[in-house]
Amino acid sequence: MIKAGVIGYPVKHSKSPRIHGTWLKEYGINGSYESVEIAPDNFEATIKELITEGYKGFNVTIPHKINIMTLCDTIDETAKAIGAVNTVTVDENGKLTGYNTDSFGFIENLKEKQPAINFNNGSALLIGAGGAARACAYGLLKEGIKKLYLTNRTRQKAETIAEDLKSYGDIEIINWDNRNAFPEDLILLANTTALGMEGQPSLDIDLSNLNRNCIVYDIVYAPLITPLLAQAQDKGHPIVTGIGMLLHQARPGFQKWFGTSDMPKVSAELEEVILR
Ligand code: ATR
Repeated sequence: MIKAGVIGYPVKHSKSPRIHGTWLKEYGINGSYESVEIAPDNFEATIKELITEGYKGFNVTIPHKINIMTLCDTIDETAKAIGAVNTVTVDENGKLTGYNTDSFGFIENLKEKQPAINFNNGSALLIGAGGAARACAYGLLKEGIKKLYLTNRTRQKAETIAEDLKSYGDIEIINWDNRNAFPEDLILLANTTALGMEGQPSLDIDLSNLNRNCIVYDIVYAPLITPLLAQAQDKGHPIVTGIGMLLHQARPGFQKWFGTSDMPKVSAELEEVILR
């Protein structure tokens, strides 16, 4: 029996066990994927226990995405650039390798839902400068976006991301107060904050001056149609919802742990099952 799981604190709301459970059944693999709650003060000892128990790896969620890095023997280039690890593999000697698949999830979902997107054809604007923003920024720069704009309530945090990722492409900060004056050549506007999520205030943005071909993407998936996406739909923009990012980021880990020859597929049915 191949074992994997997700570690976090709290972790009971994680949808990852259902995603991987669906794929395990689909492939007929004798494996398990459990959620493991680890309080921060118990972190290292519990990770060692999981290794002793034979875990092949795990996903990492809040609040452990940064502190797991100190326990990794190897960290891949993407995770280093993003500064966080969300996927870990354990080899036969108990050595840990850290990856970050959030940028993969963000980009794959976008390409799947808007296959005509041409990254070299215009610029993108990311709203927010937290951990998720870093992954999205890295993904867009690696795809060769012509220019990346960042806007965040606290300008300094956007500046830090721009500084850290400057070797990957052209990045410019837009003042939060000017966020409704969009650059003309935007092909993508994406919310990377939790604003618009159930129980959170909505993102205060006015899309009136955004060109109508610009894709509007929200990484929030509860609700699926956030106030931002509802506004975008009203104005006739193509939209991308956030659930696909969650599903796509899970694919590389599944393949690594359970040894499938390809990555598991994301389908409309899977989206529905996971949203239920
Ligand atoms: P994560 O790592 O999940 O992205 P985070 O690091 O807490 O989460 O970042 C949250 C993002 O939401 C930040 O960009 C934050 O802006 P600040 O850097 O100014 O805090 C943004 N955010 C949260 N509440 C906000 C609000 N009411 N208005 C505007 N931005 C907000």
